[in-house]
Amino acid sequence: MAELEKALADIAAEMAARTDRGNVATYIPQLGKIDPQKFGIAVATNDGSVLVAGDADEAFSIQSISKVFTLTLALGEVGDALWKRVGREPSGNPFNSIVQLEHENGIPRNPFINAGAIVISDIMLAGHRPRETIGEIVRFVRFLADDDTIAIDHAVAASEQATGFRNFALANYMKSFGNLRHPPELSLGVYFHQCAIAMSCRQLAMAGRFLANDGRHPETGHSVVSAERARRIASLMLTCGHYDGSGEFAFKVGIPGKSGVGGGILGIVPGVGSMAVWSPGLNANGNSQLGSIALEMLAKAMNWSIF
Ligand code: DON
Repeated sequence: MAELEKALADIAAEMAARTDRGNVATYIPQLGKIDPQKFGIAVATNDGSVLVAGDADEAFSIQSISKVFTLTLALGEVGDALWKRVGREPSGNPFNSIVQLEHENGIPRNPFINAGAIVISDIMLAGHRPRETIGEIVRFVRFLADDDTIAIDHAVAASEQATGFRNFALANYMKSFGNLRHPPELSLGVYFHQCAIAMSCRQLAMAGRFLANDGRHPETGHSVVSAERARRIASLMLTCGHYDGSGEFAFKVGIPGKSGVGGGILGIVPGVGSMAVWSPGLNANGNSQLGSIALEMLAKAMNWSIF
């Protein structure tokens, strides 16, 4: 534990000094206001410890990291039937790309690109109003993180709703193939709100623990998902969690991870624990620049690569 504590402190100190921090996402105007100097990191181990450094208790927009939690919920609702409407292959394309949909019958490559996550939102809407589905997602992350203060940042959701033209295009396009069951604006309403959930590194690391612990909530021992499903979700994080940067992240860090344009990354070390890092500046693939470097350093220091 002392070794981990030192590694986190060293990484936070080194990251504070870096000047090349990437660029904060501006296509969602509300995200463009975040201070690029922020850096936080947290690790929640399967034995119940939580260690943090930097701005680990400051909430940020989890954005695409929410796709891990909605995939988990949707699998719980419809099981493997989900895979008829969303694939499981890396796209090799940017997160908001539309091109593959044309030749692939409106079926997105995987649940972590925007198109895939919008289909997942549509699946979760079945039998519910958007408000109920959004409530279910927030309750789930609160339960996983064991923290009832987690909430949606409504300014971010509104900002995305007002400027999400590409996501509207993706949703309408998939609707034309019959791969959305609800009006696109309803599925998108769920999607924009899940992306606007605000969480700190500590809360995210806590929420990811079930994926590192054979699908069980470490404190209660209750099964969140089966061990097989936890493995499968983690495998998709490894192959698809960083879009066209997934290969690079696997190469350099060597663990399942899921990034968001808010600058967060959730990382899973199966059998060991869950970690979250936040630095708002992004690299060319839309993944946190310093967050990726920090996780590479941490995985190296702790020998956590799964390979
Ligand atoms: O749909 C969007 O563009 C954002 N709500 C989420 C994108 C995202 O986080 C991509 N991640 N790197």
